[in-house]
Amino acid sequence: MEKIILTGDRPTGKLHLGHYVGSLRRRVELQNSGLFDKIFVMIADAQALTDNADNPEKVRQNVIEVALDYLSAGIDPEKTTIFIQSQVPELAELAFYYMNLVTVSRVQRNPTVKTEIKMRNFEQSIPVGFFCYPVSQASDITAFKATTVPVGEDQAPMIELTREIVARFNHIYGPTLVEPEIMLPDNEACMRLPGTDGKAKMSKSLGNCIYLSDTAKDLAKKVKSMYTDPLHVNIEDPGHLEGNTPFIYLDAFCRDEHFATYLPDYANLDELKAHYTRGGLGDGTVKKFLINVLNETLEPLRERRAYYEQHIPEVYEILKKGSEHARATAAVTLDEVRKAMKIDYFDDPSLIAEQAARYAQAK
Ligand code: TRP
Repeated sequence: MEKIILTGDRPTGKLHLGHYVGSLRRRVELQNSGLFDKIFVMIADAQALTDNADNPEKVRQNVIEVALDYLSAGIDPEKTTIFIQSQVPELAELAFYYMNLVTVSRVQRNPTVKTEIKMRNFEQSIPVGFFCYPVSQASDITAFKATTVPVGEDQAPMIELTREIVARFNHIYGPTLVEPEIMLPDNEACMRLPGTDGKAKMSKSLGNCIYLSDTAKDLAKKVKSMYTDPLHVNIEDPGHLEGNTPFIYLDAFCRDEHFATYLPDYANLDELKAHYTRGGLGDGTVKKFLINVLNETLEPLRERRAYYEQHIPEVYEILKKGSEHARATAAVTLDEVRKAMKIDYFDDPSLIAEQAARYAQAK
């Protein structure tokens, strides 16, 4: 069986370091590993509209932002199909059929949807489209016969639901669809990179993000203002690592080679941590090191971004080509689905003859 990846993001904001360590970096590794036959990365504009119906301009702007973030992160359109969800109408059709296979109470139990409803204060006024997005996500995944879905843990309930829909579909209509597997991030620090203020998650509304598109200057400013250890007042004081934002970032980003280049007094992060805990190491030194590590990491991204920002029509062309290719792929699955569901009236040559014979006999 072919190994196929599908994943994506809602275009509701620029991508930040949390996205980079949580998903983007991994996607690029998977893309370059040669282990997968096909890779699809989707800009989920239709899903973004499920809770931004009154803000189409925001979604439109962020489609290009996210595309630039993808390309600068190293997603290579020669190897990965980058496409826009709304440009593949087959996905909406498939979602419509899947809705018959899922109960309202099943979606109501989805913990991610529950949290989102609370966060958005929807309680009594949940848009039907928003409520159904987990079902539509199942169609995003299965239309491409994806075997592997690399996502964060918050997406686990969607993959679970997808597997249930696939099992039910195949049971009722015959084997047609592929059950996908979730692929979670492999590094603990990457699962949830905190914001620069030390709060649980980077989020645009909290203003605690470092964006992939930030300049070196913005980045330095943000790192210098990072939340560290409030008990570590004087350099000589013993410091605490728990909840210490720069150290959490170092866990996610730094490699031993970075020490040789930027902080040769230490061989690795363990030595740096030991010194900090013992006392005698200031936050300024740690932050300066982190700035160097982050700049080195982001430099290749900044170079690619500078190119694509000067070639915006080329970016739209990549999205258009990708969407056409994605559409052709999804169309093949939809043909199989319609056949299995017996709604392929004009493609089944035996149907007309059979019906004609039945009525001829009845005469
Ligand atoms: N729900 C995902 C997010 O919030 C975006 C998404 C839509 C997605 N369809 C998908 C992710 C299919 C993986 C597979 O970012």
